[in-house]
Amino acid sequence: MNPVSTVILLLLLLTIVVRNKINATNLNYINKHHSILKRSIDHDFGILPDVYHQNVAPMQDGHPVQVKVSVIILNLKIGSISTQDFDVDIFYHQHWNDYRLQPPTNIEAMTKMKTNDSNVVQYRLTDRWRNRLWIPNVYFRNAVSGSISNILTPTYYFTITNYTEVFMAVRLSLKLTCHMNFYKFPFDTQICYMNLTSTSDDANTMRLSWNIFRIGSHVDESEFTVIRVDHESNCLKQYRFGSYSCLYGSIVFKRNIGKYVIKRLVPSFIIVIITFIGFWIPTNISPARTALPITALLALITQQIQSDLNVSYVYALQIWNIVCIIFVFANLLEFAIALYMIHCDQELKSKKQDPPSTLTMWNDGKDNTGNGQQQQQHRPTLKRRMSQHFQTTTRHAQIDVYARYIFPLLFFLFILTFTLFVSIE
Ligand SMILES: *[C@@H]1O[C@H](CO)[C@@H](O)[C@H](O)[C@H]1NC(C)=O
Ligand SMILES: *[C@@H]1O[C@H](CO)[C@@H](O)[C@H](O)[C@H]1NC(C)=O
Ligand SMILES: *[C@@H]1O[C@H](CO)[C@@H](O)[C@H](O)[C@H]1NC(C)=O
Repeated sequence: MNPVSTVILLLLLLTIVVRNKINATNLNYINKHHSILKRSIDHDFGILPDVYHQNVAPMQDGHPVQVKVSVIILNLKIGSISTQDFDVDIFYHQHWNDYRLQPPTNIEAMTKMKTNDSNVVQYRLTDRWRNRLWIPNVYFRNAVSGSISNILTPTYYFTITNYTEVFMAVRLSLKLTCHMNFYKFPFDTQICYMNLTSTSDDANTMRLSWNIFRIGSHVDESEFTVIRVDHESNCLKQYRFGSYSCLYGSIVFKRNIGKYVIKRLVPSFIIVIITFIGFWIPTNISPARTALPITALLALITQQIQSDLNVSYVYALQIWNIVCIIFVFANLLEFAIALYMIHCDQELKSKKQDPPSTLTMWNDGKDNTGNGQQQQQHRPTLKRRMSQHFQTTTRHAQIDVYARYIFPLLFFLFILTFTLFVSIE
C-alpha cells in the first residue's frame, strides 16, 4: 500500500464517521421533538384509537363518508372586465363523522362548549389536530389564488362532539375566475360560480353536500347587486381515473345601470334629438344645418371612443352609440340631399322662366330706358323678385318635411327594440 492511497482511505473513513455522527444528532433532535409533540397529543383526551390511518377516509359499512360543507361569503368584490374574476372572503365550514375516533373522555372541562342540543357535548380541539385527523381534501376548482386569513389566531378551528362528529372552520380569501359576457353591457347580468371538488377521495369514499351557501350582509354592492344565490349538491365530476364528488354555488349579479344611463345613454339621446331640430331650419341656412349634426357627430364619436370596454365583440352600449352616430350621419346626408333637391328645383324654375326676365332681375336698373311694355313688365318682375327672395330665404326641401316625422319615428322604434333586446333574459 502506498502512502497516498492510505491517506485517501483514512479521509474516506473520516467523512463516513462524521456524516453518521451528524445524522445521529439530527435523528435525535427529530425524535425528541416528535416525542414532545406526540406526548401532548396523545395526552389529549384519548380520541385517537391505537390504529388510525390519517389518509384513509372513514367509510362506514362501505358507504362513503358524508361531508357537509358551509360557505358564508363575508366580502365580495367583482374584478375588472379584463381579469374576469371576483374576490371573496369566506367562512369555510365542514363537518363529518369519523366513526373510528373515540369519544373524548379525559377531556378538560375548559374545552367543553355549549350546544343547543343537550344530548350532544362538543369539545374544542387545537389546530394541531389538523395534522392528526383525516380531513376532507376539498379545493376550489375555479380559484386563481387564495390564502388562509390569519389576521386572528388560530387559523383553524376544530371541535369534536361525543358522537365523534368533527367540525372544522377556516376563513379563506379567494380569487375565483368567473366567465362573464358583456353582450348586454351595461344591462348585463353575470353568474359566477364557486366550484368545490374533492381532491384525494373519490365518490365511492367521500360525498360532499351543501349545508349552507349564503352571502353575508356586508357585501359591496356599488357596481353590482346580488339578485340570487343558488347551490347544487348532486354533482359528480368524471375523470379518467375516477369520479369525484363536487359542489357548486352560484351567485347572480345584476349591474347597477344608473351611472351608465346618466353618463352614457341620456347625453347621446339628447344629442340625437337636438339634431332633429335641423329639419325645421330652412335648408338654405347652411351654417346652422351643417354645424348642428357635425358637432353632434364629433361629440358622439368622442363618447364612443371613451366608453370602450376592450372586448372583442359588439355589446349593447356600443350598438346604442353606433346607431346614434348613424342617425346623426343620416341627418347630415339628408341635408346634402335636401340642398341638392333645392338646387335642382331652382335650376328647373329658372329654366322655365324666360331667360330675359332673369336678366332683368339683375339688370333692371339699366335697361328700363325703353318702351312702355318693358316698363309694364317691370312691376311684376319686382314682385316676383321679392317673392322669389322670400321663397329662397325660407326654403324647405320636401324631404325635410318627411324627415321631421320619419327620423323621430325611426329613433323611437330603435329605442323600443333596444329596450326589448336588453330586457330579454
Ligand atoms: C340555539 O338556540 C337559540 C335559541 O333557541 C337559537 O336562536 C339559535 O339559532 C340556536 N343555534 C343553533 C346553532 O341551532
Ligand atoms: C353525549 O353526551 C350527552 C350529554 O352528557 C349524553 O347524554 C349522550 O349520551 C352522550 N352520547 C354519547 C354517544 O356518548
Ligand atoms: C363550475 O360549475 C358550473 C356549474 O356546473 C359550470 O358551468 C362551470 O363550468 C364550473 N366551472 C369550473 C371552473 O369548473
